[in-house]
Amino acid sequence: MIRINDNYLKLNASYLFSDIAQRVAAHQQRRPDPAVIRLGIGDVTRALPDACIVAFHQAVDEMAADGSFRGYGPEQGYDFLREAIAENDFKARGADIGADEIFVSDGAKCDTGNIQEIFDSGTRIAIPDPVYPVYLDTNVMAGRTGHYRNGRYDGIVYLDGNTDNGFIPDLPRQPVDLIYLCFPNNPTGAAITKDRLQIWVDYAATNKAIILYDAAYEAFIRDDTLPHSIYEIPGARQVAIEFRSFSKTAGFTGTRCAYTVVPKSLMAYTASGAAHSVHSLWRRRQCTKFNGVSYPVQRAAAAVYSDAGKGQVADLVADYMTNAALIRKAMQALGYPCIGGRNSPYIWVSTTADSWAFFDMLLEKTGVVCTPGAGFGTCGEGYIRISAFNSRENVTTALSRIRRTLKA
Ligand code: MLT
Repeated sequence: MIRINDNYLKLNASYLFSDIAQRVAAHQQRRPDPAVIRLGIGDVTRALPDACIVAFHQAVDEMAADGSFRGYGPEQGYDFLREAIAENDFKARGADIGADEIFVSDGAKCDTGNIQEIFDSGTRIAIPDPVYPVYLDTNVMAGRTGHYRNGRYDGIVYLDGNTDNGFIPDLPRQPVDLIYLCFPNNPTGAAITKDRLQIWVDYAATNKAIILYDAAYEAFIRDDTLPHSIYEIPGARQVAIEFRSFSKTAGFTGTRCAYTVVPKSLMAYTASGAAHSVHSLWRRRQCTKFNGVSYPVQRAAAAVYSDAGKGQVADLVADYMTNAALIRKAMQALGYPCIGGRNSPYIWVSTTADSWAFFDMLLEKTGVVCTPGAGFGTCGEGYIRISAFNSRENVTTALSRIRRTLKA
C-alpha cells in the first residue's frame, strides 16, 4: 500500500493566496458589481520595462536561427546575467559577491521553499510571525515540525513581531540553526537598519547558524541608510544566503526570473562537526533538480541592468511607491495606524478587528481585496496587508470606496 507523506496532512487545507482567490471568485459570482480591485496578493500590474521587452524579442529571434539557437543553458545561469548581477546589485554597494556565487532561478518562492532540503531534518528553525507562509509550510512538508495547535506548529521557534519591536523580531531565547529573515518585510513592510541586521549576523556567527535572507523587495527601499543586501553587513558572507527576485522589481511575476546568492565561504556541518561548503551542496541540488531559466528570460533580466533598463525600473518602482504613500495616508486619515509603505510596497494596517472578518467586510462592502494578517501567523491577527501593486486609477478608486465605507 502506497503511503503518503503524512506531514502534508499537518498543513492548513489550502495555501493562503489560493484560499483568498477562491473567496474572491465566490464573491464575484454573487456580486459582479462593483468590479473587484485586487490589493491582496503582491502581483504587479504594469508591463515589463521596454528595455526588457527589446532584449526578450532579440533573444527569441536568436532562438529562431540554427546558428544562434541555444539548448540547455548552464544550471546556475548564463554568465552575462550573473556578472551583471554581481556588478550592479552587490559590488556597486560595496558587497563582496562574485558572479560564481549567484544561482539564477525561476523564483524566490521556489528557492526559499527548496533551500531547506540541504539541511538536516533535525535542524532547529526560527521563523518570524507574521511571515510569508512558504518558509513555514515547506518545513512542515519536510517533517521538521510537530502538529498545528492554536495557530502554531510544534517544534518551530517563532520570532514574534509586534508594535513594541516594530515588527523587527528580537533574537531567539533558545538555540536555533536556521533563521528566516525578510527585509523589507513581507507582509509588514518593516525595514531593518544596518545596526539591527549586524546583531543577527553576529548571533549567527556565534551560534554557527545560517540566516536565509529574503531581499525580494529591496528595490523599494527609499531610505539611503538602509541595507539592500545582507552582504553589506560585515561577517555576512560566513553566515547568510540571500534571495532576490526580478518579480516585483521589474514586473517578472509572470515571466519568472530570480536568483539566490550562496557565498563560497558559507559552511554547514556534519554530525561529527566536519565543515562542508553550502555552495557546493546547493550547486549539486540545482544541477540534479533544475535545468535553468530560459535564455530569452535571462536576456530580458540582464536588460534590467542596462542604462535604459535602470531608468525604466526606477520609474516602475516609483509609481508603485506613490500608490503605497496614497494608501498609507488614506488609512491613517481614517484612524488606522500603519507601518510599511515607506520602503516597501506593502502597508500593514492595524484594524484591531478579526482580520478575516475585516477582509470579508471590505470585500463585501467595497469590492476591495486585501490580505488578512492572520493568514501570515498568529501575530498578524488584528491586521490586514494592503498591496500597492495596481494601477493608480484602481488604487484611487479603491481608496474612495474604502473612505466611503469606513467613514460611515
Ligand atoms: C505576496 O503577496 O505575499 C507575494 O506575492 C507572494 C509571492 O511573491 O509569492
